[in-house]
Amino acid sequence: MADIESLLKEKRTFKPSKEFVKQANWNKRTVAEYRKLGAKNPQRFWAKMAKENVSWFSPWKKVLDWKPPYAKWFVGAKTNVSYNCLDRHLEGENAWRRNKAAIIWEGEPGDLRVLTYAQLHREVCKFANVLKGLGVKKGDRVALYMPMVPELAIAMLACTRIGAPHSIVFGGFSAEALRDRIVDAGAVAVVTADAGWRRGKPLPLKEAVDKSLEGVDCVRNVVVVNRCDLDVQMRPGRDRWWHELMADASPKCPPAKLDAEHPLFILYTSGTTGKPKGILHTTGGYLTHVTTTAKAIFDLKDEDVYWCTADIGWITGHSYVVYGILANGATTLMYEGAPTTPGPDRFWDIIERHGVTIFYTAPTAIRTFIRLGDEHPKSHDLSSLRLLGTVGEPINPEAWMWYHRIIGGRRCPIVDTWWQTETGGIMITPLPGAVDTKPGSGTLPFPGVRPEVLSGEGEPVAPPDGGLLALLGPWPGMLRGIWGDKKRFREVYWSKWKDVYFAGDGAHKDEQGYFWIMGRVDDVMNVSGHRIGTMEVESALVSHAKVAESAVVGRPDEITGTAIVAFVTPRGGTEPGDRLADDLRRHVAREIGALAKPADIRFTDALPKTRSGKIMRRLLRDIAAGKETVGDTSTLEDYTVLARLRGDEE
Ligand code: WTA
Repeated sequence: MADIESLLKEKRTFKPSKEFVKQANWNKRTVAEYRKLGAKNPQRFWAKMAKENVSWFSPWKKVLDWKPPYAKWFVGAKTNVSYNCLDRHLEGENAWRRNKAAIIWEGEPGDLRVLTYAQLHREVCKFANVLKGLGVKKGDRVALYMPMVPELAIAMLACTRIGAPHSIVFGGFSAEALRDRIVDAGAVAVVTADAGWRRGKPLPLKEAVDKSLEGVDCVRNVVVVNRCDLDVQMRPGRDRWWHELMADASPKCPPAKLDAEHPLFILYTSGTTGKPKGILHTTGGYLTHVTTTAKAIFDLKDEDVYWCTADIGWITGHSYVVYGILANGATTLMYEGAPTTPGPDRFWDIIERHGVTIFYTAPTAIRTFIRLGDEHPKSHDLSSLRLLGTVGEPINPEAWMWYHRIIGGRRCPIVDTWWQTETGGIMITPLPGAVDTKPGSGTLPFPGVRPEVLSGEGEPVAPPDGGLLALLGPWPGMLRGIWGDKKRFREVYWSKWKDVYFAGDGAHKDEQGYFWIMGRVDDVMNVSGHRIGTMEVESALVSHAKVAESAVVGRPDEITGTAIVAFVTPRGGTEPGDRLADDLRRHVAREIGALAKPADIRFTDALPKTRSGKIMRRLLRDIAAGKETVGDTSTLEDYTVLARLRGDEE
């Protein structure tokens, strides 16, 4: 628990400035009132938020129906997410937002597009009609495998308009990974693009879709956005161009009145065993959660230009590039490409040119910028910024301080937000006008949610000791299950303690009740803020003809937080070496995606195992990190393996 000790030494605290406090959407008084209500009666708190922040076609009969582990929120109510993100900003007292920018989009080559709320509404209605025209019905799943272009947001909103749950697959995943997700969700259509711009080159997507659909029969239609003018194969009867379909589509499409518990989307995320899990989110609770948190935590105002750098293929992009932001009628900036193209100052240039006021990014990005040098942000005017945020992994206090000083000019509060694909929205976070921050801490629970640090036995752990992060009660944005796998849903999240959610993270609280997240405690690695299961990489490796066995662990990395280390035993007769290692890296990229490529591959003739044959990952983690193995090795079957892995013998 050395990490906990070092974080405990962190004593700096930062108060929000008077100016910020004065204008905050939620000030100290509001927050105190909500905390009180949320603690006493979370359902009442969330019902209040649902009334204030979401528009409903008809009211609920019951706020919550909780039969652990299954929750239904706003039972019987009807709403529509695209209505909340679009239509309601065009009507009544909000009608002035018609010509306000909903999306400011910048392509990597520098092309710009702005979609006003009225324009975005029109495009969404048209694409909803396109989907209907292709036979997509309420409840049908639509897979989206797209670059960061406005058409992705349009397609998502169009799906929500007709009640067809989307399943977005990050464009960095391989054809194989895409196929698994398409098949698991039983998608009837795929929306993609020829390619997207990444580091000055088109990154092909349609090609991967073609490959993924070989032998797959659930998909009837593929819609292709022409982003890069690539020559792609269009399969007659199945593939159609976006622009051709849109040319004839009607711009009138009333939003479907959907049940609050109607499935909104599936998003796959890595787990400790087997294939990725399809995390299921539904309509009313999710919308309430993301709309309320976005308003309170990002302090969204009509004048803001809000920029979250996450790809929409991850949950952060779902909740806080698109849904939570548009539901508040705010302006969201979307950027297509790499942070360092054409130069290391691209982000700061974007902030200066568009006058970004709120900036939300990942610690990995911050650490990368620190390494690139202060001259890049310093060569731009960043004075438009008024609030900063981080998400995805623990932020080390030094990176926090750099962000605070160099990007925030010491004036911007930083919201370090803890949450997960499964939680749907932010759970632990500063409220920027009301909570003092400490570098490295996500600070306090959002009102109405109840995180706790528990022991394995389910006892609350007294500060400052470390334990497991748990969520004690249901919350509106919580996952409603794993697509098609009830058993796994119970096992993964609800079997550690009775009726309590197990987050898979280690954490501790300090004397003030501030939470400090220590990272994953299971076999999920957090590489650059992206979750990758050790098992997934292992099964990719052993699917290679020259690999007999492999074990994958994470080791700490200064930039990416965690780096992937693979221990590989080649099959007899195979020569280990750089050639094989390169080959294996390419193989993993093909099977999963480039994001899962091991940083190190170490060849070994044996892996450390217990007598019952279980690989002792703890030992491998120590070896990968270059640490002396501490703790119990008495169950190790063959002691000499350890020495050989470390290279002690010679
Ligand atoms: C980690 C991303 C520390 C954590 C929204 C969690 C964090 C996993 C933070 C979820 C944070 C996320 N501080 N760790 N502020 N935010 N994490 O599903 O390990 O991609 O369990 O959701 O990221 O990753 P996911």
